[in-house]
Amino acid sequence: MNELQIIEKLKTEQTATRDELVFLLNNITDSGRETLRRAAQETAQAVFGNKIYIRGLIEISSVCKNDCLYCGLRRSNQNAVRYRLTEEQILDCCAKGYALGFRTFVLQGGEDGYFTDEVVCGVVREIKSRYPDCAVTLSLGERGEESFKKLFDAGADRYLLRHETADLEHYAKLHPPNMSGEERQRQLFALKAIGFQTGAGFMVGSPYQTAENLADDLLFLKRLSPQMCGIGPFIPHKDTQFRDYSQGSLTLTLTLLSVIRLMHPRVLLPATTALGTIHPKGRELGILHGANVVMPNLSPVEHRKDYAIYDNKICNGEEAAECLACLKRRIQSIGYEIVTDRGDAPAAGFQYN
Ligand code: 5AD
Ligand code: FES
Repeated sequence: MNELQIIEKLKTEQTATRDELVFLLNNITDSGRETLRRAAQETAQAVFGNKIYIRGLIEISSVCKNDCLYCGLRRSNQNAVRYRLTEEQILDCCAKGYALGFRTFVLQGGEDGYFTDEVVCGVVREIKSRYPDCAVTLSLGERGEESFKKLFDAGADRYLLRHETADLEHYAKLHPPNMSGEERQRQLFALKAIGFQTGAGFMVGSPYQTAENLADDLLFLKRLSPQMCGIGPFIPHKDTQFRDYSQGSLTLTLTLLSVIRLMHPRVLLPATTALGTIHPKGRELGILHGANVVMPNLSPVEHRKDYAIYDNKICNGEEAAECLACLKRRIQSIGYEIVTDRGDAPAAGFQYN
């Protein structure tokens, strides 16, 4: 099959074989990219119209017990400044966010032992009781099935846990020996079984990544069929051993966003901060390639710079209101609009409006 036939198959069958995906990633031409982009944008518009969902991101802790080789918050990074928000600070961020129109709050943090089930369940219950019309998303790493169940029962609606790479050998090259890709994948399936709207995802251009790895990532997503999918370019962090590796490519990230949109027409697909970091119009380009979510930062400005997963992360100095205004402008400039809505994963047949 040539590139146009593969793109057509992605559009009509929402899948392709591993060989076809590898071929497409290795051989796609500029004109093929434009065909793919247009198909992905049309697919997103058929489901979501010109509406973009916003999620208020609250970075609750820069403390992490893990040592992922690529991440600036890894335990062994002595230069990282560690902070954790109090329950009051988290609720404060939600209050500001709610007033600005956010109806989803994403509590994200490192694997920080302070945030026990009791603590997180308490925060989740409080947010849900103050803002019953809001969704709460958690992104707190591998906590295990028992913990996930408690968080779900406390009212959390969604959970983000990127699989990072579906290839177990590649996973082992990016993580210390006490972490495994198998366990990560098991936890993702557990999240789905518990009833969470579940998000997986991976970095594009991470060290040692091949086109075959990316094809396997796409096929893993097909098997998991998550409601959300977060992808962004790998960006080196100066205090990690991957400091000298090059960052992931903008073009490849956009191509993958489009492929994911065609393979999962209704998936919630953010144009990520990492994408906005490697190109000044990265998030706009993401939307034009099929993304339908943006996640402005609601974290207290004094801690922003310390949630340094990678270097040069954008929006470090902006208040939540400024970030939102900036994003509104950017999104309007490409003919889309932000909506105030929980923005749940749509059921089959759903069309916005
Ligand atoms: N570059 C890009 N993304 C990164 N992440 C972690 N470190 C980096 C990096 N150096 C991503 C991972 C993680 C998410 C929170 O951020 O995919 O799951
Ligand atoms: Fe944060 Fe533009 S989105 S400043």
